[in-house]
Amino acid sequence: MAINKIALVGAGYMGGGIAQIFAIAGHPVTLADADAETARRNLDRLISEARDWQARGLFQPGAAALVEQNLSAAESIEAAVADADYIQEAVSEKPEVKDQVFRRIEAAARPDAIIASNTSTLPIGGLAKSLTKADRFLGVHFSNPAPFIPGVEVILHEGTDESLVPQVEELVQSTGKLTARLKDSPGFVLNRLQYALLKEAISIVDDGVASAEDVDIITRTTFGFRLPFFGPFAIADMAGLDIYRDCFRTFEEHYGERFATPEGLKKLVEAGHLGTKSGGGFVIPAGDTTDLITYRNTAYARLQQLLNELGQAPGVK
Ligand SMILES: NC(=O)c1ccc[n+]([C@@H]2O[C@H](COP(=O)([O-])OP(=O)(O)OC[C@H]3O[C@@H](n4cnc5c(N)ncnc54)[C@H](O)[C@@H]3O)[C@@H](O)[C@H]2O)c1
Repeated sequence: MAINKIALVGAGYMGGGIAQIFAIAGHPVTLADADAETARRNLDRLISEARDWQARGLFQPGAAALVEQNLSAAESIEAAVADADYIQEAVSEKPEVKDQVFRRIEAAARPDAIIASNTSTLPIGGLAKSLTKADRFLGVHFSNPAPFIPGVEVILHEGTDESLVPQVEELVQSTGKLTARLKDSPGFVLNRLQYALLKEAISIVDDGVASAEDVDIITRTTFGFRLPFFGPFAIADMAGLDIYRDCFRTFEEHYGERFATPEGLKKLVEAGHLGTKSGGGFVIPAGDTTDLITYRNTAYARLQQLLNELGQAPGVK
């Protein structure tokens, strides 16, 4: 089944942005919210936002017209989902609200409709319990702000029918996004990593090592500067896995078990995989890295040019 008609249940901040990008990709999208009036208000907001973003060059020419043409507001959840191929839920992150909404969706949707949740942290398997038949249910987690952040987590719970996942990935990719397929786990990948970083950042401030402002400076101007281009595995491969192993030893000595050398790293180093310098690493195989180094240097220099052009984020100390 090719996905065409989409229902977006919970047309707030995230749901609204997701609706805009599906509309720009050419899909008819029906918005539902807590009541008809809220859905209509959100529709008006999404159209005027799209016009503003197009005028600023943030949306391509023609995008605002597609939003206006393809978005509509429904009187109720039931009316929005009745004929939808794909139903994206983005209501508040409250299990009791999501539970009630999923029950209403299932009662009104076609049995062959795919139902997806945008939850940030709630396990998909837990949400699946609200449905009597959850094989066509999965997590499709857009990031904030949805129109502009390219990565989307696609999360399968134990009962998700894997055969429908490629259609969902294709749908999301048709909006220009990149997808990663994940197993269900609280916080998935994005928030588990992001919260680990925030937790350590707060501990650094609480320990009196640096101010919050200085932690933010170090984060965005050092390792964070690499992150638009490389994830932690590629960064470690380029730095040298033996170096990382040695650094973990120091961390473990001072911070204890929570910073112990991970087994996966130990095994690679013991097998002679030290990253790009020798034997290859987690994600970069052994071989000539001349092109990679040129890409990396160009990427960092160009990013600095963009930052110079944009200047300091307003209102951030
Ligand atoms: N804000 C973020 O940074 C972010 C990022 C990724 C994922 N998420 C997730 O996306 C979901 C929505 O978050 P948000 O930030 O857009 O919240 P939001 O408050 O902006 O939007 C929620 C919408 O759901 C509607 N709603 C509430 N109860 C409803 C009901 N019973 N029936 C229909 N609609 C109802 C609200 O009126 C509102 O329009 C949450 O699960 C959240 O965890 C949020």
